[in-house]
Amino acid sequence: MSEGIAIFTSGGDSAGMSPAVKCAVEYAARMGYKPWVVYDGLRGLIDDKFAEPDREMMSGILHRGGTFLRSSRSKRFFQIEFREQAYENLKKRGIGKLIVIGGDGSFRALNQFYADFGVPFAGIPATIDNDIPGTDYCLGVDTALNIIRQSVDSIRDTAHSFSRAFVIEVMGRHCGYLAMVSALTSGAEVCLVPELPYNLDSIGKRLQEEIRGGRNYILAIVAEGTKMGDYLTRWMNDSIGMEARLTVLGHVQRGGSPTVRDRLMAYKFAVGAVDALHRGETNSVIVYRDGSYGTKPIHEVCDARYELDPTVLKLAETLCQ
Ligand code: F6P
Repeated sequence: MSEGIAIFTSGGDSAGMSPAVKCAVEYAARMGYKPWVVYDGLRGLIDDKFAEPDREMMSGILHRGGTFLRSSRSKRFFQIEFREQAYENLKKRGIGKLIVIGGDGSFRALNQFYADFGVPFAGIPATIDNDIPGTDYCLGVDTALNIIRQSVDSIRDTAHSFSRAFVIEVMGRHCGYLAMVSALTSGAEVCLVPELPYNLDSIGKRLQEEIRGGRNYILAIVAEGTKMGDYLTRWMNDSIGMEARLTVLGHVQRGGSPTVRDRLMAYKFAVGAVDALHRGETNSVIVYRDGSYGTKPIHEVCDARYELDPTVLKLAETLCQ
């Protein structure tokens, strides 16, 4: 009997997870493994939500947003008795390898599982925050950026028509990547992120000068992690003197059909994950760094701090001052 590989998605969902599952299933089968999928992430691993993917299940999912396997954040997985239960579910099916598509919290959980039972895993980075150390790209980022771009373009129409300032809050729990790239590519006047210091006095002077020069609307993009949305909106209103509104984009950024980039990255990461396990790697994460694909041992990912692209940071600096 062929060795089983189980594939599942875990943590916050993101576009690109569905095509990554499809490719991992199909490529694992081509490489001689018996693919399995697990519904509901780590929770499903414990609660025995396994399925044998067939052609019907693998059809019509390439374009689907979120994750067709569903996802979860499981507190129970931190307890050994539940990890034992998960291990029994793998053992009875002859599953000896795991592919997890998710964030660094999920990779840490699987690393603990590897330490407990020696089941090798490969991690595929997926989060719209783009904050997993060691990789320049995580699945879902391009789709989220395109959703933000479309929303900001719409907001600009009404901002210009009604001569208003708009503060737009984008996701990013601790990381300002989405905010910075969106601000730069949408031509926003202001961008506040946790990674860069800002100076409201100089921003104010710059905006007043532009208003004197004919500017009739303002767009400001703030990262969720700064918690500055409400404050900046009041400031635009009271200190800049332009009627201001706040738009919190929220979970709309997490959905949507994956872009071409996310579908292609999903394929490359999935092939990388199966190949890494096939080579005998036991606990690695598939990364995309400086234009090439590779793997990194889990500790190099989980013990490090993510680093933002310095050229993006440099460009965004001008929007914080
Ligand atoms: O980590 C991805 C993310 O979308 C963050 O940007 C956001 O802060 C968080 O998840 C929201 O989590 P939840 O869906 O649990 O509200």
